[in-house]
Amino acid sequence: MSKQFTPNNPLPQEAPVPDEIATFSEAVEAEIDAHLAKYPLKRSAILPLMFIVQRERGYLDKPGVAYLADRLGVRVTDIWEVATFYSMINTEPVGKYHLQVCRTLSCKIVGADKITEHCKSRLGIKPGETSEDGQFSLSEVECLGSCGTAPMMQIGFDYYENLTPEKVDELIEQCRSNQLSNGVR
Ligand code: FES
Repeated sequence: MSKQFTPNNPLPQEAPVPDEIATFSEAVEAEIDAHLAKYPLKRSAILPLMFIVQRERGYLDKPGVAYLADRLGVRVTDIWEVATFYSMINTEPVGKYHLQVCRTLSCKIVGADKITEHCKSRLGIKPGETSEDGQFSLSEVECLGSCGTAPMMQIGFDYYENLTPEKVDELIEQCRSNQLSNGVR
């Protein structure tokens, strides 16, 4: 039985309550401070800080968002606006390996659907689902800017291009044997 998540980063309906603010270790706080120090405006550090919060908490949950708003000096709504724009930011829990298959035109005309179907049959999940063991989530996303090497997908921070069903099999096996990065670095 697979678990459902919403692939297009929905905006949570409930605002976080004020005391629901994430906390982090000294080392993580130092990492965050180092990013903030690079920019004249704190809010410019929004993406690197989002990736840190996602890495530490698994996804961008409400306490994490409240923390970001506090550190960046912006509204909670500003954080959600950015978080819901990028497919690399998850606002719901996803599996250890999140396979994001591009479904836009260049990929579609050279076989994106076949790649998605192959992922579905190999993993036993549909787009928007996470495998029961928590290892894999599958999504279809819009153009990832790698149209010249279509069809392609993203896993973690890495692109896998010129995909064939055989290459997908290899990638899945590499995930299962923990040889692939899942973006937690
Ligand atoms: S259409 Fe797939 S990367 Fe651009």
